[in-house]
Amino acid sequence: MLLAVQPKKILKTVLPKYLVYNIQSLLYKISNSHVKGFNLHLNTPDRHVLEEIIIPYFIHRKEFYKILFVGCDWFTKPYNGYFKNKEYWTIEIDESRKKYGSPRHIVDSFLNLSNYFDNNYFDVIVYNGVFGWGINNREDTETSFQQCFQCLRSGGILV
Ligand SMILES: C[S@@+](CC[C@H](N)C(=O)[O-])C[C@H]1O[C@@H](n2cnc3c(N)ncnc32)[C@H](O)[C@@H]1O
Repeated sequence: MLLAVQPKKILKTVLPKYLVYNIQSLLYKISNSHVKGFNLHLNTPDRHVLEEIIIPYFIHRKEFYKILFVGCDWFTKPYNGYFKNKEYWTIEIDESRKKYGSPRHIVDSFLNLSNYFDNNYFDVIVYNGVFGWGINNREDTETSFQQCFQCLRSGGILV
């Protein structure tokens, strides 16, 4: 008798669920990343544009000092290093992702940004990859832009 053994299925049944989840998310990270220095980076064309062109543009210009990055994940952790000579803030609705943000981090929805900052506070707001990942309807989208315009200085940049 021939027994068809499927090790993947057996492991999924035997191992605790959290361990299966951790292994799967590690495999996902490895398959979608490239290594720069000792950090893992997301390996997609849009991420290369963000990290190789857009972020360096702000890093090298003195007039862009107060920077807010909206939303954090494992691939945004190295941005703390990029912006080490700036006043770099992050805001993320999911508390468990605080570890990927700046030491100057806010756990809340971006829709409440003006509860934390004066008008005209920021020089730059990087608002990337949040549409469809939490800001999903017209009302929230409009509120989010209104928050950007309120908290960005005149001549500030919204990416
Ligand atoms: C696809 S990730 C992109 C992360 C980051 N913006 C980037 O481009 O590297 C989207 C993140 O936005 C966060 N997010 C969704 N809705 C949010 C909201 N209303 N306020 C702040 N963060 C939010 C999610 O929790 C998630 O971590």
